Amino acid sequence: MKNKILEKLKQSEDFISGQEISKELHMTRAAIWKYINILREDGYNIESVPSKGYRLVSLPDILSYEEIKEYLKTDFMGRSIYYFNSIDSTNKKAKEIAQDEQEGTVIIAEEQTAGKGRMGRSWVSPKGKGIWMSLILKPTMEPMKVPKLTLIGAAAVHKALENMKIKAQVKWPNDILIDGKKICGILTEMSGELNMVNYVIMGIGINVNLDEKDIPDQLKDKATSLKISTGKEINRKELTANILNEFEKLYISFKEKDQMNEVLKICRENSILLGEEVKIIRGNDVRIGKAIDINENGELLIKFEGDKVESIIAGEVSLRGND
Ligand code: ATP
Ligand code: BTN
Repeated sequence: MKNKILEKLKQSEDFISGQEISKELHMTRAAIWKYINILREDGYNIESVPSKGYRLVSLPDILSYEEIKEYLKTDFMGRSIYYFNSIDSTNKKAKEIAQDEQEGTVIIAEEQTAGKGRMGRSWVSPKGKGIWMSLILKPTMEPMKVPKLTLIGAAAVHKALENMKIKAQVKWPNDILIDGKKICGILTEMSGELNMVNYVIMGIGINVNLDEKDIPDQLKDKATSLKISTGKEINRKELTANILNEFEKLYISFKEKDQMNEVLKICRENSILLGEEVKIIRGNDVRIGKAIDINENGELLIKFEGDKVESIIAGEVSLRGND
């Protein structure tokens, strides 16, 4: 009901009377008043004048379905959104509900109190400043192919940023960088059996409107935000929908036609690693080689001393520039 009232307010350019809402939605004026106050608590600025009714003055900067949907062009990605003002981790929540939810369900939170990064690290996720979301995917494919999904996520984020005229680079397989600093990380987690995937959770964290003060000192030389690097506030609603729009297109080609051409093109052309010397860190084992390509399977090809080329699968290593 709350959303129906919100729709009415959004549709009418001027005041809409309590009587009109009451007639069209078959509810009492008292009930309308109750929902108007709930909407105000959600951050909607609604003016009420006794003789005129209600008028929507401004929208809140929040990532609920109601606020994202005007930008959304998808069939299934993000058509069901679980929205939280605060949560421990959207990936954790997604894992709790994945079994019973449809593919394309998205968990979004304004803040994470225990955001998770790769390799058991924590992920800084201050309130209202980023996009902290997890996508529930249910591809029918072998678990071996799951690392490719991370590349689809990275390509979708890169494309969405490009649509919004923001230039970024991809650090295979799961990071997006600007000016050499991280603005986005992707954490892909899977539940499956030997030859079957139950579900995949793709957690995407984007530092959108964080200010310098929101980035802890020890991360300042490694992480930045879109606002810091572009000097402008970025529309989080538009960017969130854009990522889901781009992701759905790339994901459908992959699922239906096993097609990764565009994903590979984006990851190759905008790679920060290709052509560079890199350190490949696997636990305590550190090797140095040159990143030369991303192959059709989405693996990174590294040339080692003596021209020996090895492929690396996403998820198993950390990579650092060697300078
Ligand atoms: P890899 O995943 O390949 O190991 P990395 O993610 O460690 O690379 P770095 O740029 O070297 O990349 O390190 C950034 C560190 O900061 C990571 O440990 C990352 O998890 C952590 N971090 C925590 N919160 C954020 C955030 N909001 N933005 C960027 N980095 C963050
Ligand atoms: C990385 O280490 O680079 C991956 C970071 C992934 C962060 C996102 S934010 C939304 C989702 N929920 C989490 O707890 N983590 C991911």
